[in-house]
Amino acid sequence: MHKITIAIDGYSSTGKSTIAKQLADWLSYIYVDTGAMYRAITLYAINNNIISEGFFDTEKLITALPSIKLYFKKNIATDKAEICLNGISVEKEIRTLEVSQFVSPIATISEVRRKLVDQQQQMGKEKGVVMDGRDIGTVVFPDAELKIFLDASAEERAKRRYKELLDRGEEVTFQDVLQNVKERDYIDSTREDSPLTKAKDAIEIDNSEMNLEDQFHIILQLAKDRIAGR
Ligand code: DC
Repeated sequence: MHKITIAIDGYSSTGKSTIAKQLADWLSYIYVDTGAMYRAITLYAINNNIISEGFFDTEKLITALPSIKLYFKKNIATDKAEICLNGISVEKEIRTLEVSQFVSPIATISEVRRKLVDQQQQMGKEKGVVMDGRDIGTVVFPDAELKIFLDASAEERAKRRYKELLDRGEEVTFQDVLQNVKERDYIDSTREDSPLTKAKDAIEIDNSEMNLEDQFHIILQLAKDRIAGR
């Protein structure tokens, strides 16, 4: 069957990865969580003293980039793809609030973006891919056949992220999570290099009041239409 490229962009905690994963499973497409790649670079910086006491050394990180190897590998037990940093799965470690607090500034560095965008374009070059992030429809795959832009209110998104972190046993306050969501929105959408913005031809969906099932059906129908060339 004719394969297409599906780009799902939007603000943090809009549920992009949940929808993208479901869609990829349904279509038997590859799923790529590009946020996980920026998070893994950030984790590397934390673990290698490139970030310390709230500051990071941009030059040191740029010098280290060639030695940072990222790839996704399926965990046979859970049947889910996990991000590996230099050969080790860091899927859990990249989801902490500490990583969330540094990832947006790290993602403003053009050299970091170039490395990851190149790798993302390689991963999607055969089509049959659902990729989620901030710049997929604008920079990584500007010719994607289907582009979705997800949005929801900051409070609703913070609620979802807060629950996720609590479920994982992290000790955080709702206020810290809300502040982080707002800060990331600001940095992601005002950075100079490929800011988060809706592609002109993207379909915007505000899911503040929508359940997952309805949302999935709308997006799946759009995907089926595009696959059929409509
Ligand atoms: O989707 P996420 O919350 O895991 O993404 C983490 C951060 O990575 C986000 O705040 C900005 C950055 N990012 C990006 O700049 N470009 C992407 N394509 C994906 C994520």
